[in-house]
Amino acid sequence: MEIFHISAECYPMAKVGGLADVVGALPKYQKNAGHQVRVVVPCYNTKFKNENDFDCVHQGSISLGDFDFPFRVLKETTDKLGYELYLIEISELFNRDNIYGYDDDIERFLSFQIAALDWILTRNTVPNIINCHDHHTGLIPFLVKYGYKYESLRTVRTVITIHNALYQGWFGFDKLRYLPEFDLTHVGFLEWNNSINSLAVGIKCAHAVTTVSPSYLNEINISANGLETLFRSVREKSKGILNGIDFEVWNPSKDQMIAENYAIETSETGKQKNKEKLCEQFELDATKPLFSFIGRLFEEKGGDLLPQASALALSENFENINILILGSGNSAIEEQLLQLRNDYNGNYNVFIGYNEELAHLIYAGSDYILMPSRVEPCGLNQMYALRYGTIPIVRRTGGLRDTVIDFGDNGNGICHDQASVGDICYSVNRAVKLYNDKISFYKIRKMGMEIDHSWERVCQEYIEIYTLIIEKNEV
Ligand code: GLC
Repeated sequence: MEIFHISAECYPMAKVGGLADVVGALPKYQKNAGHQVRVVVPCYNTKFKNENDFDCVHQGSISLGDFDFPFRVLKETTDKLGYELYLIEISELFNRDNIYGYDDDIERFLSFQIAALDWILTRNTVPNIINCHDHHTGLIPFLVKYGYKYESLRTVRTVITIHNALYQGWFGFDKLRYLPEFDLTHVGFLEWNNSINSLAVGIKCAHAVTTVSPSYLNEINISANGLETLFRSVREKSKGILNGIDFEVWNPSKDQMIAENYAIETSETGKQKNKEKLCEQFELDATKPLFSFIGRLFEEKGGDLLPQASALALSENFENINILILGSGNSAIEEQLLQLRNDYNGNYNVFIGYNEELAHLIYAGSDYILMPSRVEPCGLNQMYALRYGTIPIVRRTGGLRDTVIDFGDNGNGICHDQASVGDICYSVNRAVKLYNDKISFYKIRKMGMEIDHSWERVCQEYIEIYTLIIEKNEV
């Protein structure tokens, strides 16, 4: 079948978080399974854009109220990504260094969605499926169904995949005039609490809704930033599909970004070499267990708990552990984390920012990865960690609940229930004991490395949903 993925992020073109990793991997495996797969993202000013070649395959112009924006569709020229990548170039709105965070984000992503559909309309074939991702693409299922000019796309079946329901893309009805003309009897689909809520529109209008883990689907039926009743009402067309990880990118036996490659059998020595490199770089002690955190420093991820939890864990363990943090986000949290360096020099370090290469080395060289998330729709870091033989310490929520089982229940990691400093430290203390019991420690590490979270298996679940909605053929 012909599948389009439309998204605000796609690795390696543009990445802020896990959304990019998913949209950069799932299409590749769908293509390997014999489908025609195309990915469409906005053309931001990124390193990937500037270092690769593109052909212009379409030129057009869209109107947003009183504004007209010319746009071009650029296609990446090689086959190296494993799927066809198309960029929607609207220079005035997207030729910027960041992906989000501008005052005109609503205008930017509306334009993106309209331009993408306008282009698809001009192609010779009508796709079978458009898979939208998060609120930035939530209007597409509505426009495909009710936009007058998209009449010839009515046979397209749409899916919206929810990576994070906290962000919803709200805007006022004063911006209704930005939308291409549609049958006004359907205006109710746009409304949620007197505003237009992009995510809610997508959920109402898509033929199927997927979330990135089964537990997250259960959780948003109870609490979803005001959308819980809506999620409950679409339960029948919803499914939680646990994300996979790209085994080609995340493979410790081939990874070019780490100091020493290793497989399960060689993981003891291989990981130690990576740990030594990492500890040398960050002035830590490679003889002690290394706990790391990688991610965005926000409350959602439990980032606000890290400064106090790190200080307490380091002092409770008489500095018998190392903690390393890689992330950026809330500046107050960043500041507190930087401060801690003064008190725990030699056992603690932090790198503010994001660095893909360093992330790989951290997965390879750490003993434990900390994920004290308050909300985690899926979480990929615990799966990367498991693959690299790094034991995850997680709060039981969303996808973390679905992928990490406590070693006390014969599982692959360490779990706690509260997003609190106390719970994190309790888990760290258990982890130190486990580290000293080498037989159990290696057994659990090995168990994690053996788990198959590859997309190959998961991508079939998406195809099953696509097939189901195509066969159902509902309007
Ligand atoms: C979002 C979620 C994260 C998920 C990722 C990919 O970033 O917060 O939990 O793993 O999307 O689906």
